[in-house]
Amino acid sequence: MATQHATKTRQFPTRIDLPAEKRERLCEMLNSHLADTFDLMSQTKQAHWNVKGKDFYQLHLLFDEIAEELEDFIDLIAERCTSLGGYATGTVRMAAEGSSLPEYPVDAVNGMDHIEALVERFSLYAARIRQAIDDADKLDDRTTADLFTEISRDVDKRLWFLEAHIQDAE
Ligand SMILES: [Fe+2]
Repeated sequence: MATQHATKTRQFPTRIDLPAEKRERLCEMLNSHLADTFDLMSQTKQAHWNVKGKDFYQLHLLFDEIAEELEDFIDLIAERCTSLGGYATGTVRMAAEGSSLPEYPVDAVNGMDHIEALVERFSLYAARIRQAIDDADKLDDRTTADLFTEISRDVDKRLWFLEAHIQDAE
C-alpha cells in the first residue's frame, strides 16, 4: 500500500552524521526487524500461556523470560530507527503486516510442540538478524550493526536454550 510505504520511509530532520538515503534504507530495514521481533515476542507469549504437559512450569517460565528479552529488543530497534530520523512502525497491526515469520500453530499443546514451533521461528529470526549485521555494515552504520550483533548473540543463546530440549532425542 502506497501510504504505508510513505509512512515507513518518512524521515525527520536530524544532524546525525549519516547520509539521508542510507538512513532511509537503515530505517526500512530496522522496521522490518521490528515487525519480526514484535511477532516473535507475541508468539513466545502465546507459548507461555498455552503450554501444557509434565514440563509445564519450567517451560511457562522460560517462555516468559525469552519474551521479556524480545520486548527489550523491540525497544532497541524502534529507538534506533527514530534516532536515525525515521518513523518507527511499531503497532501490533503493523507488525502483523510486516513480519516475515510464519503464524504460530494453533494445534501446539504439549511442551515439545511449543519447543519445535519456537525453534523453527527462532532459527529463521536468528538468520535474518545475522544478515542484518552485514546489511547495516554495508550501509556504513556500525552502530546499528553493533545493535544487531548484540541481539544476535542473545538470540543464538536462546535458540540453544530451546534446542537443548530436543537435542538428546536426535
Ligand atoms: Fe504470564
